[in-house]
Amino acid sequence: EKGEYRHFMEKEIHEQPDSVQHTLSEYLDLVTAKAKPAVVDFAAIERIQIIACGTAFYAGQIGKYAFEKYAGLPCDVEIASEFRYRDPALSQGTLAVAVSQSGETADTLAGLSWCKAQGLKTAAVVNVHTSSMAREAEILWPTHAGPEIGVASTKAFTAQVAALLSLAIAAGVARGKIDEAREAELVKALFEAPRLISEALRMDAPIRNLVQDLAKARDVLFLGRGPMYPLAMEGALKLKEISYIHAEGYAAGELKHGPIALIDEYTPTIALAPMDDLFEKTSSNLQEVAARGGPVIMIAPESAPDPHGAGIRRVHAPDAHPIAAPLVYAVPMQLVSYYTAVQKGTDVDQPRNLAKSVTVE
Ligand code: F6R
Repeated sequence: EKGEYRHFMEKEIHEQPDSVQHTLSEYLDLVTAKAKPAVVDFAAIERIQIIACGTAFYAGQIGKYAFEKYAGLPCDVEIASEFRYRDPALSQGTLAVAVSQSGETADTLAGLSWCKAQGLKTAAVVNVHTSSMAREAEILWPTHAGPEIGVASTKAFTAQVAALLSLAIAAGVARGKIDEAREAELVKALFEAPRLISEALRMDAPIRNLVQDLAKARDVLFLGRGPMYPLAMEGALKLKEISYIHAEGYAAGELKHGPIALIDEYTPTIALAPMDDLFEKTSSNLQEVAARGGPVIMIAPESAPDPHGAGIRRVHAPDAHPIAAPLVYAVPMQLVSYYTAVQKGTDVDQPRNLAKSVTVE
């Protein structure tokens, strides 16, 4: 039941400190500050191929960045409906990983079965632990989001990200890419995420002040670099799904290769800009947008310097370690779409034309 909340989506957004905590605890041990031993020998794997659809695909892309950065393990991510029909060339050292909330999405399941038939090792990161994918894959990597009722995925997404980031640490340890001190740092940083997510939930007040303007927009751009790039695409998907506003997520560095042509005073840009090595670059992209008259909303920590240029509104997010940032920044991006949809009066939990589980292709 929804309890004190207006919509299941709102309730599920607020459940994320718990669902992330539970999922992290499946893979990491806070007491020893170590990754739990993984069922798979990551040192013996040459490459990971993630297969997923929609929101799970974006979680997979965040996973890719982590597997490559923290474990030096090459990782590809592909939309399942393309993967299953294009005769992909995979080496026998590949671990195929399906990522899915329901574990029933037809294209993802077919991609997983195809990999299994090729003799590849298979794993499934799924939220429904009795699902078809859970049974089909050799290895079950559960997420612990609990039942997700809202059609637009929120807590299942952050649980997928939490699982993949944790597995990337385990892979880094197994492959000798991470020493004990670094392992402890990363594990502790991820266990900070539930508290930081709770803090991020308090961004609802400043975000509500923005939605009057956002609800009037026809198009919205989301920008980010590094893991904030897939998160920007997820933000755009969420806004499209529940508010029916056209939105695109772009890598901030791609802006000048095309999308900057869209910028005018009616097209808001929302930037996810945590304080990391890429902050300055994202900040200068925002100056470019503002200089062309585009309204900019910059989601960044309070400590981050102000980009020069008029028209940049700031929403303060908690400071987070880079490994935890995708979990923390997921929250403001969910709140933006939720409150925009509420402002527009759309059916948040049952958006038009969408089904929770896509079991036909
Ligand atoms: C978006 C959304 C969908 C699903 C996609 C995959 O909010 O919910 O894009 O993520 O249909 O579903 P699962 O994860 O069940 O395979």
